[in-house]
Amino acid sequence: MEDTDSYLFTFKGYNFEPSLIDIDHLENLDDFEIRDDDVFIVTYPKSGTIWTQQIISSIYFEDHRNKNSHEDTLARVPFLEYNIRKVDFSKRPSPRLFATHLPYYIMPRGLKNKKAKVIYIYRNPKDVLVSFFHFSQFVTLLEVSDTLEKFMERFLDGRVVGSLWFDHVRGWYEHRHNFNILFMMYEDMKKDLRGSVLKICNFLEKKLSDEAVDAVVNLATFQNMKSDPQANYRKILKDEIGTRKDGLFLRKGTIGDWKNHLTVEQNERFDKVFQKKMKNVSLKFIWDI
Ligand code: A3P
Repeated sequence: MEDTDSYLFTFKGYNFEPSLIDIDHLENLDDFEIRDDDVFIVTYPKSGTIWTQQIISSIYFEDHRNKNSHEDTLARVPFLEYNIRKVDFSKRPSPRLFATHLPYYIMPRGLKNKKAKVIYIYRNPKDVLVSFFHFSQFVTLLEVSDTLEKFMERFLDGRVVGSLWFDHVRGWYEHRHNFNILFMMYEDMKKDLRGSVLKICNFLEKKLSDEAVDAVVNLATFQNMKSDPQANYRKILKDEIGTRKDGLFLRKGTIGDWKNHLTVEQNERFDKVFQKKMKNVSLKFIWDI
């Protein structure tokens, strides 16, 4: 398939997946009514969105935690900008949980009163790149690049859904004082899942028993999520998003897979761009284990 930009819809300088959006909804996002107890997971694609959706859903909903529910994660934590099930968000009971890939400047204005909570998950961008490349290979709606080399060029130019990784992370980080926000790193979650769940609970002011925390952690391990039809999005991918071939959001779930894919040259080029674009950003990064 030709490597073009026809797969992108650009709104306010940010690239969306065109067939999943509703332009009226996007245009009204600025005025989208925010409740004090709303919670938003914010990520650049492939940074641990589905994982965090699973975690906060099972923190909030006892029936999810106890496996007494038939609802999938997307029903509990829908995407703010890709409202593919056409839910009337204003009618959803509180607390409302959302996921989003939006940059800070397209988020609803009401978040600026700093009552609703934002959890920003970021991941080292080389692993994001590799994960995104593989994801693009099987999701029908995304542009296919036949080589990682070509995809890396798109990624470093921001010609992908989600636009430029550097702008996303940097933008949210530099505007963090405008939001009630917790920054979490994918790699920290991977290294200490229980500690990360407790940190999230603390931020959300949710006091769970030790057993409940154990249940959340157990539901959020890579293997358990991968085999859990409510968490792994297999059906959503097939019926609602569309795939060219078999594949899941849960692929490897590791730190440093980029080392298996990037050549020395590509890695050096990536490092150069990273150093330039992330200058003065004091976020920590973990590149391998
Ligand atoms: P890989 O492709 O590197 O495996 P997103 O949900 O933002 O699209 O991110 C998907 C990435 O998060 C995938 O990375 C996926 O495997 C990883 N992921 C999802 N759930 C995970 C979990 N429970 N533990 C570790 N990684 C997880």
